[in-house]
Amino acid sequence: MNIRRGEVHEVVSFYSFLREPTDAVRVCIGPVCDCLGARDLLAREQEQAQDGARVLGVECLGHCDLAPVLMRGDAVEPELAHSTNGGPSVDLAQADETLADYEARGGLAALRSLPQPGRIVEELKASGLAGYGGAGFPTGVKWEAVAGERGPRYVIVNADEGEPGTIKDRYLMERRPHLVLEGMLVAMRFAESTEGFIYLREEYALSRARLNAALEELGAAGLLDGLQIRLVVGAGAYICGEETAMLESMEGRRGMPRLKPPFPSQVGYLGRPTLINNVETLAHVPAVLRMGGEAWAALGVRGAKGVRLFSVSGAVARPGCYEAPNGSTIRELVEGPAGGAIEEIGAIVPGGAASGILPPAALDVPLARDDLREWGAGVGSAGLQVFPASYPPLRLLAETIRFFAEESCQKCTPCRIGNRGIHHVLAELDAGRVAMSREQVEEWLDAMVATSICGLGQGAPFPVRNAFRWWPELFAPLGEPARA
Ligand SMILES: Cc1cc2nc3c(=O)[nH]c(=O)nc-3n(C[C@H](O)[C@H](O)[C@H](O)COP(=O)(O)O)c2cc1C
Ligand code: SF4
Repeated sequence: MNIRRGEVHEVVSFYSFLREPTDAVRVCIGPVCDCLGARDLLAREQEQAQDGARVLGVECLGHCDLAPVLMRGDAVEPELAHSTNGGPSVDLAQADETLADYEARGGLAALRSLPQPGRIVEELKASGLAGYGGAGFPTGVKWEAVAGERGPRYVIVNADEGEPGTIKDRYLMERRPHLVLEGMLVAMRFAESTEGFIYLREEYALSRARLNAALEELGAAGLLDGLQIRLVVGAGAYICGEETAMLESMEGRRGMPRLKPPFPSQVGYLGRPTLINNVETLAHVPAVLRMGGEAWAALGVRGAKGVRLFSVSGAVARPGCYEAPNGSTIRELVEGPAGGAIEEIGAIVPGGAASGILPPAALDVPLARDDLREWGAGVGSAGLQVFPASYPPLRLLAETIRFFAEESCQKCTPCRIGNRGIHHVLAELDAGRVAMSREQVEEWLDAMVATSICGLGQGAPFPVRNAFRWWPELFAPLGEPARA
C-alpha cells in the first residue's frame, strides 16, 4: 500500500485501543473515580490479573455515575454500592425502545414538517442554543455559516465524549437514539448533505448498538433514502473530541488539532465545508423547531436560555444525568435530582476538567456562563463533579493536570512541556518541596494560554488559577504571586 512502516507506527502508537489489547481491563483513574477509591481498585485488579492479562489505569471512561468503574473488554463494571445507576431524570427517564415509542411521544414531527433553512436559522438563533460540546458556540450562527459555503457539505456528530465527569451524550445515545438521529437528519436536510458521520468513542458499545438499531429502523421507514450515515469508532484518544483533531482522525492520521482558521464550517472533512455538532446540541434541535426558538429560550431561569443535560457525579446520593434549566444553581442540582451530598463537600468542578475548581461557597452560583465567569470558571460540558472534603484540593488539581499531560497530543511545546512541568510542581508541593516559584508558574500559565494551538493547552491553566484564588494557603511555599 506504499505506506511507510514509520507512518503506521506513528498512528498506531497514538491511540490507546491500537496500542493495548481491546480486551484489557481498563480501570478509570480520573478524578471522580480517584476520589471514590479507584487507585485501590486498580491495585487489586493488577494483583489478581492472571496469565499476563493487561490491567491499565485509564482516564475517564464516561461512566462517572457508576464510579469507581472499570471495563473488561466491552463490559462495564461498577464497583461501588452507593451508585444507583443514574436514577430517573426528567424526560430521559422514559427511554425509547423503538421508533414507534419515539413517534408516540411526538418524535419525528420536526423532521416531517421542516421549515425553510432561513427560518431554521432564525429559530436556532432565537433559542440561544449554544454548543453543548463545551465551547458554547451559538448553533444558529454555525449552521448559517455552513449553509453559506459551497457544497458538497458533510455533517458530523461529535460523540467522542471524553471530558471527565461528562456522561450526557451516552445517556442520550443509549436511551433516546432516535432523538439524536432526528437532530442529525434535520442538520443533514438543512445543509443538503448526503453523507453524515457519527464519531463515537470506542468505550460506548451500548451506544453503538442502540444507534445501529435505530438507524436500521429509520432506514426501514424510508427516512434515510438518498442519505448515507456511517459510524466511525474512535480508538481511545481524548483529544479526538476536539473537532479538528477528529477530522484528522477520520482521515486516518494521528488526532492532532489543526490551526483555526479555517474553521471546519469552511474547510472540514476531506477539505469540504462540514457542520460539526455535539450529540446533545443536535438532540435539542427538534424541540427548538417544534416549540419555536423563543419558547425554548424561555425554559431557562435567571436570565439564561433553554435547558441542558447536567451530568452529576462524585459524592452525591444519586449520580446521573438530569435535564434542568440553564441558570439552575449548583445546589439545585446537587440537592434536587442528585439527592444531596453524601459527605461534607470540599470542592466542586462545575463543568469538566478545564471548567475550573470551586470551593463549597459556590453552591448557590447559577450554572451559566456569565455567573461562573465571575468565579473564574465556566460551564463547559456541564459535567458537574462534587468532591468530598476528605479529597484534598491539591490532589484534585494535580490529577486534573496529570489528565491534561497524559492526553495532550504533544504537537505544541507550551502544552506538552507546560502540563508536565506544572504537574511536577504540584506533585513536589504535595511532598513539601518547591520546584518552581509562584511567579514562574504564572509565567508558564500565561504562555500556555497565549500560545497553545487548541483548547486543551489553552484551558488547562484555568483550574490552576482557580486553586490559586480559592485555596491560596496551599501555594504559600511557592512565594508571592506575580504582580499584575
Ligand atoms: C480538548 C477538547 C476536547 C473536546 N472534546 C469534545 C467532545 O468529546 N465532544 C464534543 O462534542 N465536543 C468536544 N470538544 C469541542 C469540539 O471541538 C467542538 O467545539 C464541538 O464538537 C462543536 O459542537 P457544538 O457546537 O455542538 O458543541 C472538545 C474540545 C477540546 C478543545
Ligand atoms: S494545545 Fe496540546 S492538545 Fe492542543 S494541539 Fe497543542 S499539544 Fe495538542
